[in-house]
Amino acid sequence: MRTPRKGRSSSGASDISADAENLDLYEGSARYYDIWHDDYKDDIRFFLDLAERTGGPVLDCMSGTGRVLIPFAQAGYEITGVDRSPAMMDICATKVSFLHPQEEARVAMVLADIREMDLGRKFKLIFVPYSSFLHLLETKDQEAALLRIREHLDDDGLFSFVVFSPRLDRPEQLLRHRGTKLTPQGEIISWFEAQTFDQPSQKTTVTYFYDISRQDKPLRRVTSVFTLRYLFHREALELLDRCGFEVQEVYGDYEGGPFKATSELMVFVARKRQ
Ligand SMILES: C[S@@+](CC[C@H](N)C(=O)[O-])C[C@H]1O[C@@H](n2cnc3c(N)ncnc32)[C@H](O)[C@@H]1O
Repeated sequence: MRTPRKGRSSSGASDISADAENLDLYEGSARYYDIWHDDYKDDIRFFLDLAERTGGPVLDCMSGTGRVLIPFAQAGYEITGVDRSPAMMDICATKVSFLHPQEEARVAMVLADIREMDLGRKFKLIFVPYSSFLHLLETKDQEAALLRIREHLDDDGLFSFVVFSPRLDRPEQLLRHRGTKLTPQGEIISWFEAQTFDQPSQKTTVTYFYDISRQDKPLRRVTSVFTLRYLFHREALELLDRCGFEVQEVYGDYEGGPFKATSELMVFVARKRQ
């Protein structure tokens, strides 16, 4: 396993502003990510099916704590994860270190921004799971990332990314309780979410509040704020086309259902235009 240290992290503050370039948005909240997301497996079978079509090696862009990367290593694929958050990567590295040595040997991790990544090799399958692509806030960022991805894709490889399909009728400024969990360390963590939309700039700002209580300590709140630039279906197709991809398949879910107005997801599978 390879874990170059190239990224920059912010101060240890628990309030995280989304808009500063290159800030590690996940620094304060990385340790809560797996508590809520580790059991989200809906997309893993879909990406593994793509890998069966292409073979490896595989590149997981914005790989975070390894939610998708680890099952790939366990399934026998050589996989590289790229993420710009040292905090998320540290968690991933710890989890990878607990894998069977043969599985661990299939994993490479690179701390980098996907807009600038240069891994010096090509991949048969590249994906950006779980709406992570929406962290790219400007068209120039999306294009830069797609051009880097194209550069790393084998001529007969596949590229897939999945983003939520925007539903602009969602109530704003509503605090939603996403759940409460007890950690092995004896903390009770309640997760709340609030979301606002800025329609002209096509951005949504999501605020997560993690309220953490322990029997012997006062209640602590960790706040994480990040902005996502949502994409519409037509726009995503045009973006892929502009960046030299030929879209092969578009689905509205991970089971291969058609994309419809009511679909929650947009699942794109593309090839490199020759
Ligand atoms: C929602 S998490 C998803 C993690 C993982 N892919 C998953 O599906 O569980 C988004 C990840 O994208 C990373 N990220 C955001 N912008 C990035 C960029 N420009 N380059 C590389 N990683 C980035 C964040 O650090 C974070 O780990």
